[in-house]
Amino acid sequence: MQIAILGTGRMAKGIAWALRDTPHDLTLASRDAARAEVLAREMTAENARKFHGATYAAAAARADVTFLAVPWAAAAGVVESLRDALAERVLVDLTNPLNERFDGLLVGDGTSGSEELARTVGPRVRLVAALKNTFAGTFAEPHLSGGPAPDVLIAGDDAAAKDEVARLVEAMGFGALDAGPLAVARTIERMTVLLIQLATKNHWNWNAGFKLVH
Ligand SMILES: NC(=O)c1ccc[n+]([C@@H]2O[C@H](COP(=O)([O-])OP(=O)(O)OC[C@H]3O[C@@H](n4cnc5c(N)ncnc54)[C@H](OP(=O)(O)O)[C@@H]3O)[C@@H](O)[C@H]2O)c1
Repeated sequence: MQIAILGTGRMAKGIAWALRDTPHDLTLASRDAARAEVLAREMTAENARKFHGATYAAAAARADVTFLAVPWAAAAGVVESLRDALAERVLVDLTNPLNERFDGLLVGDGTSGSEELARTVGPRVRLVAALKNTFAGTFAEPHLSGGPAPDVLIAGDDAAAKDEVARLVEAMGFGALDAGPLAVARTIERMTVLLIQLATKNHWNWNAGFKLVH
């Protein structure tokens, strides 16, 4: 499978690294092709496998699954520009529309960042919300302090797309839970706000996540 990861920041690096042992073709993508190539070379040298570097457009054009690892403020512009390349492909939205204080969202109560992006990109793109509650630092060690790995809540209106994302999330070392339709992203994004508040108050050093016990 061809996987594109848009962005070269903390989440992008974490996702790429967490998928290093899978048989998938991994492309790190940047607004700046040179930056992506440098990162891909570094990651190729550090891990016993090949990473590719490309622009967003080139990476998305050949990807079966694309991870959107850019700031919320940039997300709509990025997906809008890739609307045709992403058609009929799976787009994993991990953005959180957080306000500046990280104590609320920039979208209203009756929607979510994912639903807004789905409207922007249109119905041909198989958008799935996932990894929104996954702190970047936890990709390196999903089991945190030796406990169970957090669950990744997956929301979307395309069951087959959610299954594909679930397999990738499990390959990263996390649990995967189908949380329901895309509208559940309203709750999931607000859970990120709660997790940030809890992590800050309790000095968890960004090593925290949700695990559902049943
Ligand atoms: N950090 C976390 O723990 C965490 C957890 C869950 C979800 N998220 C979500 O994941 C997304 C990425 O977070 P992150 O922590 O990886 O962010 P980050 O470290 O700041 O990286 C974001 C990347 O997005 C790209 N980008 C594209 N347009 C941009 C713009 N206008 N301004 C700045 N960067 C731009 C940049 O890569 P290029 O310049 O190379 O294109 C940059 O490296 C966010 O939406 C965030 O809400 C983060």
